[in-house]
Amino acid sequence: VDDWRRLEDLTLSEFESVASKRVQERVWAYIQGGSGEERTLRANREAFLRRTVRPRALVDVSELDLRTPFLGHTTAAPFFVSPMAYQAEVHPDGEVGVARAARDHGILASYSTLSSNSLEDIATVSRSTPRWFQLYLQPDPLVGERLVQRAEAAEYSAVVLTVDTPVLGVRDRQTIGGFAMDSSVPIGNGGEVLPPARAPAQQGNVYRLRDEASQTWGVIDRLRSHTKLPIVVKGILSAEDARQALAHGAKGILVSNHGGRQLDGAPATLDVLPEVVTAVGKDAEVYVDGGARRGTDILIALALGARGVGIGRPVLWALAVGGADGVRRYFELLKVELATVMALAGVRSVAEIDRDVLRDPG
Ligand SMILES: Cc1cc2nc3c(=O)[nH]c(=O)nc-3n(C[C@H](O)[C@H](O)[C@H](O)COP(=O)(O)O)c2cc1C
Repeated sequence: VDDWRRLEDLTLSEFESVASKRVQERVWAYIQGGSGEERTLRANREAFLRRTVRPRALVDVSELDLRTPFLGHTTAAPFFVSPMAYQAEVHPDGEVGVARAARDHGILASYSTLSSNSLEDIATVSRSTPRWFQLYLQPDPLVGERLVQRAEAAEYSAVVLTVDTPVLGVRDRQTIGGFAMDSSVPIGNGGEVLPPARAPAQQGNVYRLRDEASQTWGVIDRLRSHTKLPIVVKGILSAEDARQALAHGAKGILVSNHGGRQLDGAPATLDVLPEVVTAVGKDAEVYVDGGARRGTDILIALALGARGVGIGRPVLWALAVGGADGVRRYFELLKVELATVMALAGVRSVAEIDRDVLRDPG
């Protein structure tokens, strides 16, 4: 990796700093940045650091089982890759590299509408492992429908509809770094696919957004009429919105603030998770992403009721560090650390993890 550090020796602590030296500055600003003052970006991480885990003594933990079912597909661990755009900007292996690593580790991964590789190319290398397609609403709904039909044909196992992005958040770090999220960055899924609008356009005293910003909850019903795939709604941060998503047939709820990149001032996802879990009950699976970095974070999120934990930036760090091999190494370390902290907390399987694992769940 570096002159003095080999990938097989790398620890979880090192990916971020090694990655920072490997990607162009403008791409680094795009990956790392949040919106506004980055309050929410910081809050995500701080919410994990506030919780403590109760060590338990003399439990038989000689065998540990990390397997986790996601919408009926069993994977090797309770974490998954959150959808992230433009991965070939980070490393030439791109999403196909992430898909190879996810396949080899049996890890669920989701892929952005704005992937650098086409959703078909990603599917080709990851047939045997479940994968999800993330949809950004398009100004022309037919473009979105075609994407979903392609995802279904390529055997994706769910559609993740991102609902927190009628417009991109104000991302100063990205702007200063000079990363333009526009047509200058190639999108693998085709020229007609658009990234979310960067800002509202002023018309007199009114600020206008593109047509997709007029969509309301009925968009989930329309999506369901176009696909048999289960729908996961990504970007939910309240019990009310979770109930709306369920009422419109969502099978999964991903509690997310987009990694602190959308509404600055939005709460840390971990703090909202319990109210969403309570609102949803057994009617759908609830996942969370934002700020999870290590094994302890995954344990904490599962203890607060998440079925699975999405990992964002760390996967891009690993990709930057060593392409598909870097991501393989990251998954390996994360699995081993999760198994280690489960053993130290006295839980043998993902199903055994509950609130009792935490000393201070609040
Ligand atoms: C560089 C980058 C690109 C992203 N692109 C997308 C995207 O295309 N679609 C989407 O729904 N979320 C996107 N996200 C948000 C992630 O899916 C996820 O919610 C967030 O990164 C989780 O927080 P973490 O990075 O702290 O783990 C992106 C995040 C980053 C950092």
